[in-house]
Amino acid sequence: MQTLTIRTPDDWHLHFRDDDMLSETVPATARCFARAIVMPNLVPPVTNASMAMAYKARIEAARPLGSQFEPLMTLYLTNQTTAQDIADAKQAGVVACKLYPAGATTNSDAAVKGIEALYPVFETMQTHGMLLLIHGEVTESHIDIFDREKVFIDKHLRPIVDAFPNLKVVFEHITTADAAQFVSSSSDNVAATITPQHLMLNRNDLLVGGVRPHNYCLPVLKRNTHQKALQDAVKSGSPKFFLGTDSAPHARHKKESACGCAGCYSAWSAIELYAEIFDEMGALDKLEGFASIYGPAFYGLPLNEDTITLVESPWLVPDTVKLADGTDMVPFFAGKTLKWKLAKSLVS
Ligand code: NCD
Ligand code: ZN
Ligand code: ZN
Repeated sequence: MQTLTIRTPDDWHLHFRDDDMLSETVPATARCFARAIVMPNLVPPVTNASMAMAYKARIEAARPLGSQFEPLMTLYLTNQTTAQDIADAKQAGVVACKLYPAGATTNSDAAVKGIEALYPVFETMQTHGMLLLIHGEVTESHIDIFDREKVFIDKHLRPIVDAFPNLKVVFEHITTADAAQFVSSSSDNVAATITPQHLMLNRNDLLVGGVRPHNYCLPVLKRNTHQKALQDAVKSGSPKFFLGTDSAPHARHKKESACGCAGCYSAWSAIELYAEIFDEMGALDKLEGFASIYGPAFYGLPLNEDTITLVESPWLVPDTVKLADGTDMVPFFAGKTLKWKLAKSLVS
């Protein structure tokens, strides 16, 4: 049987949600990742250090017994965020702040209107060595949804990166050739995360033969030329591109609806999904850098010491996952077969 052993990976972008949901989402991720950057788009959002620390404690309490899994906390930027909020968050161990343009995605209503108004906050972040994580899409109603990432680069991202050359910026869950090109040609302080769905799928997988709500996430899947550009970016082995699943659970009835939620719950098969696509691309030798080395290097954190092993042993992603209260969720890639399987969970 073929096996693949890599340094233990981390997930540099995911959504755990809160409360009852944590007993599902935290063990699912702790299964194969040592750390994760936890997105702050709760309701209400995580906007200050004390909220971030309370949320961290709830996540830690949901870890399986003996698990060493470490949540890395983030702050949700609003037009009310102050320099003091940044200083307090840094002091408390928060590693990054998340910029959502208002209305861009799930639970972003409280977010930023008029990004330029936040420049003083970015200045403080740069001084404190706090990373800026960005959902990079404009929200103007006249901009086509397939163009929103590209327009964001020209209108907002390039100006931010130019104005704050020492601020570390992660362009989250990139979906276009334009984004890959922008990140490649920017300074070493600019990097990007890439999800499994944007490497594996394109917009045909969303729309051909019927609408597939479980492949719907934001930024929305793009045409296959963009998918190919993302694949080329990770195949290049550039340390600017690293793993961020954007695992984003929603109840089945909220996805399979007349107005379905955006987000793919990929934690159930996260590292296996990446192994599948890296294998298909003939780039398994690039998986370890992408999954386990470039992320901590960019964040200035130590690499994990241990390893995980994947074995070639086809398995079926379950059709549904049930929460304790009976709520059904459909994991990403449900009912499909993956070739690689984690040999031993980190938590059992
Ligand atoms: C995310 C969510 O559900 O919180 N959804 C998504 O489609 N990616 C939010 C986000 O990361 O934009
Ligand atoms: Zn996002
Ligand atoms: Zn996300």
